[in-house]
Amino acid sequence: MVEASAVIAVVLRFFHIMFGIAWIGAVMYGVGVLRRALGKMDPAARKETMKRLLPVVERYLPGSAAMTIIFGVALYLYLGSFDPEILVGTPWGKVLITALVLALVAFALGMIFGIGSARKILGHLNEEACTHGPEVGALQKRFNISQFVNLGLGFVIIALMVVATEHSFLGL
Ligand code: HEM
Repeated sequence: MVEASAVIAVVLRFFHIMFGIAWIGAVMYGVGVLRRALGKMDPAARKETMKRLLPVVERYLPGSAAMTIIFGVALYLYLGSFDPEILVGTPWGKVLITALVLALVAFALGMIFGIGSARKILGHLNEEACTHGPEVGALQKRFNISQFVNLGLGFVIIALMVVATEHSFLGL
């Protein structure tokens, strides 16, 4: 008989990993594929693509990031048996708290600089005759930088996940 506690852990782990892939995978795809493809388009095609892409990105990225963090925290509390001694007093707990702080920083930066810039860019793209080329260029640069920073934070968080799951490495 499989124990209920094992099933709960598997379900939490499954959704945590799935949303984590959806979040950091999308950032990776944005930096590695979309950014390059958009750079090769003529301005009219780029504008039309961005008008359709940005509203989707504005929902998809915060949604997948929030779900990764929610399932990550649930898994952390569950595997740590809701016991403060395990959650904050062990190397395992400390690694995961570090990951949580970095994930919250990535989320906040993504919302303020990434999604914030995307909303402003979209506003300009939807203007009848936009004369704010330099402003849009600066916003695009800010959006790109926030994506690069979040990708870097994502790599560090994944490294922490690898350390957290190597229980023998942590002396557990
Ligand atoms: C960029 C965000 C994140 C990604 C891509 C991610 C991905 C992963 C992956 C791939 C695993 C390995 C699962 C396994 O081998 O069984 C894992 C484990 C885990 N993650 Fe995350 N994670 C992220 C953020 C977080 C956050 C913010 C927390 C909250 C504390 C968290 C909590 C956990 C826990 C508790 C485990 C299981 C550790 C263990 O088995 O000892 N994760 N994560």
